[in-house]
Amino acid sequence: MRVLVTGGAGFIGANFVHRTLATRPDARITVLDKLTYAANPGSLATVRDRIRLVEGDVGDAAVVDPLVADADLVVHFAAESHNDNSLADPGIFVHTNVVGTFTLLEAIRRNDVRYHHISTDEVYGDLKLDDGSRFTESTPYNPSSPYSSTKASSDLLVRAWVRSFGIRATISNCSNNYGPYQHVEKFIPRQITNVLSGIRPKLYGTGDNVRDWIHVDDHNDAVWAIIDGGTIGETYLIGADGERDNRTVIETILELLGQPADAFDFVTDRPGHDLRYAIDSTRLRTELGWRPTFTDFRSGLAATVDWYRDNRSWWEPLKRDVEARYAQTEQVLD
Ligand code: NAD
Ligand code: DAU
Repeated sequence: MRVLVTGGAGFIGANFVHRTLATRPDARITVLDKLTYAANPGSLATVRDRIRLVEGDVGDAAVVDPLVADADLVVHFAAESHNDNSLADPGIFVHTNVVGTFTLLEAIRRNDVRYHHISTDEVYGDLKLDDGSRFTESTPYNPSSPYSSTKASSDLLVRAWVRSFGIRATISNCSNNYGPYQHVEKFIPRQITNVLSGIRPKLYGTGDNVRDWIHVDDHNDAVWAIIDGGTIGETYLIGADGERDNRTVIETILELLGQPADAFDFVTDRPGHDLRYAIDSTRLRTELGWRPTFTDFRSGLAATVDWYRDNRSWWEPLKRDVEARYAQTEQVLD
């Protein structure tokens, strides 16, 4: 099977490439990636001779068309993915997430190729902290940030291309991923690498916000379950019952790294900060039989801490710039 993976040099895409090569020996993988600041070709170094890596923009039809024509399956991970960046500079999010997806969909339509669209639970907005409700496939779209609104737009384009043009597509909306190869701008790797660099972890606002954590391998196994057995035109929510408030996550990281539980700073909150995400993945489990493997968040987090401790050369060159960028807007609260 010829698989085109967009965004395969980013966090989830690179893990998808590794997982696919390990579990599907017949897969021939081409990665299309613009190699933005978020990409790290080092994430693919160990499999570099087993894949084709094309540097290019998913919004560039001249690049995208021949790659799609040469594929049996396209899995679309490429995106601008960080909420904080979308608040500072939303334009690139519209280009990559909306125009990029549109460009890909047009190539899919012309070439009649199977398409899987990777999206986020953030398209549904947020939930109250304490009412126990969870997102389902029928929750109305209500995105909060420039990032999540461009992802919601891209999902709606996919739905329209299925209905209007009959493309063979599925969509998945997943909760917060953690694991190896995640950029140090994101919450968990930022705090782990802060401690490893002698910097105090930084908690936005009160730290009460809740995210529903899933290991990246569980996400990617679910994506393959949907590609293999999902119904064309349908959406599947992916989540592993991993709700934790941000403060608890920081305290666990500190404990795993042998630091006092209160050795972190409260900093200014993210504008429009979503309170809580939580996924009801009943459909994925009952229809497709998917189950997460990483059911103990603490041990998944411990393995992730070990990965960052053992792979300093992967993240150290990025760390100074990321912290300098945060320092421009972030203030430590008393
Ligand atoms: P990431 O930022 O780590 O990687 C994104 C990759 O896309 C990078 O390699 C980047 O170079 C590439 N890219 C960006 N713009 C491009 C363009 N115009 N053309 C081609 N390539 C481009 O992101 P991630 O965390 O791996 O997320 C991957 C996908 O999963 C995204 O679609 C995101 O919305 C979705 N998602 C992420 C999470 C999460 O917790 N990280 C959860 C649910 C869904
Ligand atoms: O829910 C899925 C989404 O998860 C994906 O669609 C996004 O691509 C991905 O980035 C992630 O979005 P979040 O905004 O939830 O992730 P982030 O890692 O930026 O932040 C997680 C939580 O931690 C959030 O409540 C903000 C908080 N935070 C973040 C950073 C970077 C802090 O408290 N301190 C920090 O330094």
